[in-house]
Amino acid sequence: MNATDTLEATRSQRLKAATRDSHGALDKRIMAGDIFADRGRFARFLRVQYRFHRDIDGLYANAALDALLPDLAERRRLPQVTRDLRDLEQTLPAPVPLRLDPDLPLAAALGWLYVAEGSNLGGTILYKMAAQLGLDADFGARHLAAHPDGAARHWREFTAALDSVVLTDVEEQQMIDAADAAFRSVHVHVELEFA
Ligand code: HEM
Repeated sequence: MNATDTLEATRSQRLKAATRDSHGALDKRIMAGDIFADRGRFARFLRVQYRFHRDIDGLYANAALDALLPDLAERRRLPQVTRDLRDLEQTLPAPVPLRLDPDLPLAAALGWLYVAEGSNLGGTILYKMAAQLGLDADFGARHLAAHPDGAARHWREFTAALDSVVLTDVEEQQMIDAADAAFRSVHVHVELEFA
């Protein structure tokens, strides 16, 4: 979808509108995977999350993003997902080459980070559901636990930064394309882990 196809007021709203279909399809596909049936099913979801957070790990070393978001390093969740997998006695997916260059241009980096940050919102729902498997912030569902300031507030701080950046139309489209690529990459991981 093009940035100009939507009339939403803010960039974050436009990004949400542009990726609504990819998000909806992903959400449905994950829930169809019956991830709360038992810990083994949930571990498949954790492996998806691990693959995604490993793919985007270069973002947290991106100088332009770091200048925009003072707490960028704290937003990284790969260590928590790794611990969740270890809690459930899972082996980690085999190593792969670094997917995102830490020097990715800011617009594209923002598109990828949007998907990672937004996943915390759905994560609050998944966190509550994980309780039925005996998982929580101390065991197996660490990476889904809300930020101490509250997931909504933490999200608003991110979207405020996202909305404040000056981007050309071309850059805004690059950001949307990057968010779309991020969602598609998660789909690929889901198909692999839930095959
Ligand atoms: C079964 C799994 C999932 C469920 C149930 C779910 C559900 C939700 C919900 C309820 C919201 C909040 C919408 C709002 O407040 O307006 C949300 C937002 C979001 N989720 Fe998910 N989600 C899931 C998986 C994911 C995954 C795996 C990703 C990406 C890796 C993701 C990315 C996002 C993004 C980017 C947003 C922010 C949308 C916005 O701009 O407000 N979600 N999700």
